[in-house]
Amino acid sequence: MKILFVCLGNICRSPLAQGIAEDYIRKNNLDISIDGAGTGNWHAGEAPFHYAQKVALEFGVDIANLKARQVTSLDFKNFDLLVGLDEKNVADLEKLGCSNVVKLGNYLEGNPDIPDPYFFDGYEGYADVYTLIEKGVINLINKEYKSN
Ligand code: 4NP
Repeated sequence: MKILFVCLGNICRSPLAQGIAEDYIRKNNLDISIDGAGTGNWHAGEAPFHYAQKVALEFGVDIANLKARQVTSLDFKNFDLLVGLDEKNVADLEKLGCSNVVKLGNYLEGNPDIPDPYFFDGYEGYADVYTLIEKGVINLINKEYKSN
């Protein structure tokens, strides 16, 4: 199974989702491959934002080696499932013709958008975003993996 996490810049939320998922998959010996992408291209080629790297490390996950890239329509075929971090990500992917997309919030109580911490005023709040993404990612993998 192949899953692609998609946010806006691919430097905060989707790299966190990717790092968390890869860590969980490794620890549980699952046969799933993961990637991340952004609907925008502003940060293509860049490593995750330093606060995203910092919060991940605090939870024991190293995302320093990830590199941002923009999503393409090839991804809609190459991945079984695309997972948007918020409603706008999902809507943008659907506009590009993607039909195999869900929102990460579907796997969380209340179907929330994952807030974009890039626009937070400083580092406060990153741990909350991390734990929200972590819950969603684990619920998603447990649900989708068992049904595949
Ligand atoms: P992300 O956050 O979508 O969680 O990676 C963003 C980072 C940068 C920008 C937008 C969102 N930006 O416009 O530069």
